[in-house]
Amino acid sequence: MATWILWAAGALTAGFASVFTTPTNNGGSLLKQLNPLLSHEAQIYLPGSEGFVNATTRWGGATTPTFTAIVKVTTETDVQHTIKYANAHNYPFLAISGTHGTPSTLNNVRDGIGIWLRDMNSVKIHQDGTSAKIQGGIENGKLIRDLWARGKQTVTTGCDCAGFISPLLGGGHGWLQGRYGLPADQLISARVVLANGSAITVSATSHPDLFWAVRGAGHNFGIFTEIDVKVYDREKDQDSWAAMGLTYTHDKLDKVFEIANEWLDEKERDVKLTHYGTIAINPGLDPNMPIFTFWIYWQGSSIPSKYTAPLQALSPISTDFSVTDLAGVNTHLAAAYGMPACWKGFSRQFAPVSLNAWPIANLRTLLSLFGSMPSVFHQASFVLLEAYATNRVGEIAEESTAYPDRGGQLLISPLLGYAPNTTLDDVARRIAKEMRDALLEGTGEKLRAYVNYARGDESLEEVYGYEAWRLEKLRKLKREYDPHGRFNFYMPITK
Ligand SMILES: Cc1cc2nc3c(=O)[nH]c(=O)nc-3n(C[C@H](O)[C@H](O)[C@H](O)COP(=O)(O)OP(=O)(O)OC[C@H]3O[C@@H](n4cnc5c(N)ncnc54)[C@H](O)[C@@H]3O)c2cc1C
Ligand SMILES: *[C@@H]1O[C@H](CO)[C@@H](O)[C@H](O)[C@H]1NC(C)=O
Ligand SMILES: *[C@@H]1O[C@H](CO)[C@@H](O)[C@H](O)[C@H]1NC(C)=O
Ligand SMILES: *[C@@H]1O[C@H](CO)[C@@H](O)[C@H](O)[C@H]1NC(C)=O
Repeated sequence: MATWILWAAGALTAGFASVFTTPTNNGGSLLKQLNPLLSHEAQIYLPGSEGFVNATTRWGGATTPTFTAIVKVTTETDVQHTIKYANAHNYPFLAISGTHGTPSTLNNVRDGIGIWLRDMNSVKIHQDGTSAKIQGGIENGKLIRDLWARGKQTVTTGCDCAGFISPLLGGGHGWLQGRYGLPADQLISARVVLANGSAITVSATSHPDLFWAVRGAGHNFGIFTEIDVKVYDREKDQDSWAAMGLTYTHDKLDKVFEIANEWLDEKERDVKLTHYGTIAINPGLDPNMPIFTFWIYWQGSSIPSKYTAPLQALSPISTDFSVTDLAGVNTHLAAAYGMPACWKGFSRQFAPVSLNAWPIANLRTLLSLFGSMPSVFHQASFVLLEAYATNRVGEIAEESTAYPDRGGQLLISPLLGYAPNTTLDDVARRIAKEMRDALLEGTGEKLRAYVNYARGDESLEEVYGYEAWRLEKLRKLKREYDPHGRFNFYMPITK
């Protein structure tokens, strides 16, 4: 396994002591006033409690919203009461499910009320077997397992411990998207609690404009308590996933990505093929330069030699191969429960860019920037190079949802990781941005930044698309459904 490369390991003993503060008077009155309105299973957690620590310990240590209290909600009505209370008492509020969100805009939550949805995590398959009702706080890994055990699957994403709904609200990218489209394309309807605490159903026939908007810009509009999504039967010939990882020294970079570009150029890209890469530093393998790993994920039990042979011919330092299932792909990526991608405590800075072909000369520049960054970043940083199958994603009309980048083939992002240290935050952000600039250089492309990896300082066009009609439509809906900007903490459409 090449997992030591990804999400570079090393136990980190982060001090979470700072969240153990004394309950404030505000917290006390909140407890007295809001508690009686909530359901029996709901709970209010104040600073110092275990529930508070659980809900506020984030995946990225540089993401630092602060909270007066956490409300563990278990019903839609709990969410409504909490929002109404927050509005009446001038508290900002923030939904929390997977804690993986990282844009710097989340840091604008000061002394807010956290709405902790993690206990709303049930999955119910509807009678006809083609859709399921899923609650708003479910983790991706639980959803994969709950559906699989009942002979089903949907377009889930690559990390077990991230939420499912929040990725979907930004479009989402995941293993089965080549067959079925983005996670957002699976949405049939949603129960949404709006900024004023009203709860509505959003679907193709109920608030259709908002239904358009939540599939790509959803974080701006409400808290999703439950959604109906399409699910698909597991099929015997599609149940297995073959995974191959090849690790190379830097000098093979051009040749490997030339091969990958040929795959992207194929007229009929195979829906079974996802390729993926990371650049990382491993002094044991190369003391001077970063190394890189290239993965092939193939939906089937053996990868055609057409794909593997040319890569093996380039003499990787190491190769691994396994045949697994849908959940096992996340394990192969070291992104399953308990694995490095799920460890909390490191500070992390993304700088995403979407492209349509691997920019080989720019990848080379990136490699040298990566090799020359300060050593504090060496252990836990890498560059994500993701190429999911896009067949079905591109067939769906671009204007049919707010997701703006159906033509994009590649998600690339440096991810700088380091032990939490605020003096390093700006350094890491600067370096990550330099890397992104280098990736775009000379491509003639405008920056397209995937909203779910966004830094927080991108323009609206970069995140939500360059077409004027798109932004106009989003702004209009924002004025209508969130006139006071209560949902302005995750890449807000209006400031
Ligand atoms: C290790 C890792 C792996 C990833 N893998 C993938 C991947 O394979 N595919 C992909 O597309 N993305 C991936 N991402 C990006 C991911 O989509 C975002 O980080 C996403 O915001 C995580 O959602 P969360 O619920 O875990 O985080 P949270 O921080 O809890 O939520 C993120 C945002 O969504 C809001 N939110 C949460 N729950 C709700 C709700 N029920 N209703 C309304 N708003 C809500 C929050 O208020 C916050 O603004 C990955 C990220 C990481 C860190
Ligand atoms: C906090 O998280 C731990 C680990 O997941 C869990 O065992 C514990 O029950 C949680 N506590 C609360 C109050 O939610
Ligand atoms: C934070 O990073 C700076 C710059 O590298 C370093 O000088 C300082 O010692 C670090 N602080 C901690 C607590 O590690
Ligand atoms: C809440 O907001 C929605 C959308 O703007 C609006 O239709 C509804 O009337 C509002 N409800 C109340 C009680 O103000």
